[in-house]
Amino acid sequence: MKKVVEVLPDQSALIQRSLELILEKLQMALAERGEFSIALSGGSTPKPLYEAIAAQDIPWDKVQVFWGDERYVPPDHPESNEGMARKAWLDRVPIPATNIHPMPTDETNPMVAAEKYEQQLQQIFQLKPGEIPSLDVVLLGMGDDGHTASLFPHTEALDVRDRLITIGNKDGQPRITFTVPLINQARCVMFVVAGASKQAALAQIFAPVGDDTTYPSRLIQPNNELWWLLDRAAGQGIV
Ligand code: 6PG
Repeated sequence: MKKVVEVLPDQSALIQRSLELILEKLQMALAERGEFSIALSGGSTPKPLYEAIAAQDIPWDKVQVFWGDERYVPPDHPESNEGMARKAWLDRVPIPATNIHPMPTDETNPMVAAEKYEQQLQQIFQLKPGEIPSLDVVLLGMGDDGHTASLFPHTEALDVRDRLITIGNKDGQPRITFTVPLINQARCVMFVVAGASKQAALAQIFAPVGDDTTYPSRLIQPNNELWWLLDRAAGQGIV
């Protein structure tokens, strides 16, 4: 595994650097395979990054967009990760609708929705049973508690190793989330983390020894590339 940690002077430099890295991975993917797949993170940090991506001249028909996690709400709900990414980016570019793969949140039972999304991935990536796809980029944020995607501390989702998609649990609220094995299979995992409130968790995550179930981002040890892009407020004292 190649691990890179970069601390950028401020949030706008962080967004610019994140954009640069994504574009670099996109060019590589198009050159090697003619297609680029990316899983998006939610929350607030990536919104300006999605706006910046929308302003780029990209062959959108070659880009496949997934989500690494989703709150269990309709896409028009203010909490929806899909809704945020569509407003900030996807509605602003000529990407084919069939290239956008939101996590379903309309099943009564979230586990059924998780299974549906897993089946979609199996179809799209033409997976053999048990095979884990390698997305080109899995974009991740990190909560103040050290969670990532919807892999929250001390939840069952952390231990799921035989699925691609499972149910996350945030204070009893269901989420749909990539599992640790799916994230770790990515060609490039990119954490984009900003703000002083992340410092304490980052110190635990970067410590040589620590508790993975209390700080789930420690579980993200991809086989290929791991990038931590931090602004100074988050990263000072860490590296
Ligand atoms: C979500 C995200 C989650 C997020 C972190 C950081 O659905 O909320 O996927 O993992 O990345 O909570 O959120 P902020 O960027 O808002 O700090």
